[in-house]
Amino acid sequence: MDFKRSDFPEGFLFGAATAAYQIEGHKFGGAGPTHWDTFAAGPGNVIRAEDGAVACDHYHRFAEDLDLLKDGGLDAYRFSTSWARVMPDGRHINPEGLDFYDRLVDAILDRGLKPFQTLYHWELPSALADKGGWMNRDTCGYFGDFTDAITDRIGDRVAAISTINEPWCIAYLSHFLGHHAPGLKDIRATSRAMHHIMLAHGIGLSRLRDKGMKNCGIVLNFDHTDPADESPAAALAARRTDAIFNRWFIEAITKGTYPEEALEGFGPHMPEAWQDDMALINQPIDYLGVNYYTRHTVKTDASTVWPHVHGEEGPGEKTQMGWEIYPDGLYGFLTRLSRDYVGDLPLYVTENGMAWDDKVENGSIYDPVRLKFISDHVLAAKRAIADGANVKGFFYWSLLDNYEWAFGYEKRFGMVHVDFDTLKRTPKASYQALKTAIAR
Ligand code: NOJ
Repeated sequence: MDFKRSDFPEGFLFGAATAAYQIEGHKFGGAGPTHWDTFAAGPGNVIRAEDGAVACDHYHRFAEDLDLLKDGGLDAYRFSTSWARVMPDGRHINPEGLDFYDRLVDAILDRGLKPFQTLYHWELPSALADKGGWMNRDTCGYFGDFTDAITDRIGDRVAAISTINEPWCIAYLSHFLGHHAPGLKDIRATSRAMHHIMLAHGIGLSRLRDKGMKNCGIVLNFDHTDPADESPAAALAARRTDAIFNRWFIEAITKGTYPEEALEGFGPHMPEAWQDDMALINQPIDYLGVNYYTRHTVKTDASTVWPHVHGEEGPGEKTQMGWEIYPDGLYGFLTRLSRDYVGDLPLYVTENGMAWDDKVENGSIYDPVRLKFISDHVLAAKRAIADGANVKGFFYWSLLDNYEWAFGYEKRFGMVHVDFDTLKRTPKASYQALKTAIAR
């Protein structure tokens, strides 16, 4: 890789990220059913109807997985604590679930790693989904209670906490595009989810503050957006996409407002008196987590529903997901966020990574495209730091090949290969290369 640890400021953290439902195995340890189990079982929603029942069996193999982080020379581990494991019906505690995270955090610390916790990475308990999930305002209060329960148990030992992972996916991808649970295509449902997920953040953050928690933030995803051509129509499509995808959440947090270009569609469907919640959402955070993967190239398609956007294929090389590789976009967001929204607030790249159809040959996995991908994106973060962005760390998504939601186990994002028949872990060439780079 074309960087070394000493290129970065003192204390810069290199880490890897995962999420509970994608790796743990949700049939173990008394976890309750989630809306992902229901969604996966529905026809045509997930490739081969795969779900997170076993996943990487991290529930039983976490010691081995944490050893991989330590042996790779990483500093920090970003993981999530499943709501449905801690509270199987969304409301009542499963002591086995709390015990698991207690053991996990101790094992992270035992290896000298910093635990970066995410509270909600998408496994909504079915009991709450059945009552309307993120369309229902009550879910936000229950999320506050979950925040209290898990924080009372492990809050004394985590290095940083995020309330929500990728609100755009939770709200828009899941309620408007229908690609994730609950699989709706409904603007009213979307408008409610777009607001309620931010309200849940506000409530969760207040609960954390009440407990005196430090290093509290949120993880947002940002996709670079370019118009497909020079026409005013394509420019409008790009502005709308940027507003819905990139601006909605960060502006709610930092300015207490939602962008006009998005409210033009969502406004008529928003929950009553939503404006009254904005002060709670607009509380100071201690850091911002930035997830970055790709660029969108868009134009207007008047034959489709608002926001009338149609995606075009960009020119660059694509990953196994079909996502264009575009490291400049990471530089762009880190500098734009600092300049326009957060100033000197610490930024962490909480996810960046790519899927590839990796094959085991003679017991090893050679993944040169990923190796270059990581190198180029870490260098983009380095350039952003040189230009004034206060970037404090970089987490690769993901430590392990895992359950890639609607794509099941087919898309491999890991630095470590997982054989889903035997569950054997094999570090890929990119893992070895990152290890070498950060040892220098
Ligand atoms: C973002 C999500 O946080 C994570 O769950 C997902 O696997 C990766 N992107 C890759 O799509």
